[in-house]
Amino acid sequence: MQVTLKISRYNPEVDKTFHYETYTLEAEPTDRVLDVLERIKGQYDGTLSFRRSCAHGICGSDAMRINGRNMLACKTLIRDVGEKITVEPVLGLRIIKDLIVDMEPFFDNYKKVLPYFINDSPLPEDGKERLQSPEARLRFDDTTKCILCGACTTSCPSFWASDEYLGPAALVNAHRFIFDDRDQAAAERLQIVNDVVGVWRCHTIFNCTVACPREIQITKAIGELKMALETGKLD
Ligand code: SF4
Ligand code: F3S
Ligand code: FES
Repeated sequence: MQVTLKISRYNPEVDKTFHYETYTLEAEPTDRVLDVLERIKGQYDGTLSFRRSCAHGICGSDAMRINGRNMLACKTLIRDVGEKITVEPVLGLRIIKDLIVDMEPFFDNYKKVLPYFINDSPLPEDGKERLQSPEARLRFDDTTKCILCGACTTSCPSFWASDEYLGPAALVNAHRFIFDDRDQAAAERLQIVNDVVGVWRCHTIFNCTVACPREIQITKAIGELKMALETGKLD
């Protein structure tokens, strides 16, 4: 089949603002959008810039807007988006070049929620591991799946309004550790997210949940953080 891609282009060295360039080429319905972007870069225009690494939905580096929706280019098949495809950078972050945005504000917010295991107590007697029941592990299973692609945060109108908002990705990662019963910093993290630029900036818009390529129930997770703050309970 023949596909036409309308791609947002911006080169800070020569452009005042972005513009679109159009490429028409042959593709298989089972090609991924990433395959076609690679072909355009390899055969038509080597200056086209976008991030990608694993090409298998794991590294989270190729989130972009495809026909107006945040998706991973490596997980999106041509047959699912049609013959005319518009490709743009995600919203809410500064464009560095073409489809590449400045992820620093995103990762700054991520770091604020202490996204790592904290437990300074001595290891159990066998010195090997801190055991956890399957039920306790299940409590935060969904939020362990995050690959930090940013598709959620950059689809959230509250984040578009202000990148001071921690955003759904940071809150998902706060949830992952707050509900881990082996961790000892839940209270500290709850204090961090209990803020007008924390969970209370979420207005339950659900764009994040729709955008997540890992199908994490993000709005539900943020709701559980709000509930924990209101009740003082983590169950
Ligand atoms: Fe990406 Fe989902 Fe993680 Fe958000 S929660 S950064 S959409 S994987
Ligand atoms: Fe934004 Fe998701 Fe809340 S889109 S407002 S973080 S439910
Ligand atoms: Fe790694 Fe798409 S290139 S998730």
